[in-house]
Amino acid sequence: MRQLITPRVIAFAVGMLFALAVLWALLQGVGPAFSTLAKYGRFTEPTAEQGFHEYPAKRDFSFNGPFGKWDTLQLQRGLKVYDEVCAACHSLKFVAFRDLSALGLSEGQVKAYASKKVVPGIDPVTGEVTTRPGLPTDYFPSPYPNAVAAAAANNNAIPPDLSLITKARKDGVNYVAALLTGYGPQPAELLKKFPDSKTPPGLHYNPYFANLNLAMAPPLTAEGQVTFDDGTKATIPQMANDVAAFLAWTAEPQLVKRRQTGWAVMVFLLFATVLAYMSKQQIWSAVKPKKTKG
Ligand code: HEC
Repeated sequence: MRQLITPRVIAFAVGMLFALAVLWALLQGVGPAFSTLAKYGRFTEPTAEQGFHEYPAKRDFSFNGPFGKWDTLQLQRGLKVYDEVCAACHSLKFVAFRDLSALGLSEGQVKAYASKKVVPGIDPVTGEVTTRPGLPTDYFPSPYPNAVAAAAANNNAIPPDLSLITKARKDGVNYVAALLTGYGPQPAELLKKFPDSKTPPGLHYNPYFANLNLAMAPPLTAEGQVTFDDGTKATIPQMANDVAAFLAWTAEPQLVKRRQTGWAVMVFLLFATVLAYMSKQQIWSAVKPKKTKG
């Protein structure tokens, strides 16, 4: 009689066992995913962020569009908001005081502005680290000596440098303006749907921030918080727009110039194309096309 349990059969059984284990594991994972799909129309359960995160509306800035220009008065107002509100926590380390001449400040005004700031320096006699009044060539100083001090003062969140923030966030200018005006209480619907998503103590609800709660307390809280030199009324949306515009300028001071150069380059290239076409016609005019026998 032939033996029933051959090594081959054992090997097959063991193989089947493994295959079944893999199939079981797969179903364990896929099953719930499909039931979530049936319930929510997606493979993962929605989170509070997905349901309540808002995207900024497009705002009307003077520098929008291909023919946009800086509104220097607005940039000056934005500088003032940065200076009197944001500079308490945020640095602007890629901007030098002399760059402010682009906002219409005269050389004397830049000097006066810089000298009111305290920047890190070196004592020329002892070589010790000290501070000194700023010069036009200095960069905006950081409000904190280092990141540890910044975190310690802000509930463990480090206020980011703002020089490039409008480039670092999607739709940066509109985002910054929306963030500054977007604070408010958590919607009741959010708490009903996601009872675990209550804003933790020390954080502040803001639907424009990617995870809805951020460590920055609302910085713009009252109308007239700053006094604009040009007489513009300092409402909260006005201050938010102005400081956002200012931060668009710090992130790309050459924005307007770049676009203007772009137009000049386009016109030149068009002209060069016409010239190239005409010279091609001229060069080949002596050569008659060969008649091919049809
Ligand atoms: C009291 C300190 C403080 C002041 C004043 C302040 N901020 Fe902040 N800011 C913070 C902290 C802390 C964070 C980090 C928040 C986080 O990551 O949760 C932050 C984050 C930000 C961010 C980044 C948000 C993101 O998407 O990561 C922007 C933009 C910003 N602040 C703009 C401003 C502007 C503009 C002003 C002035 C109108 C200002 N802040 C004033 C503390 C401050």
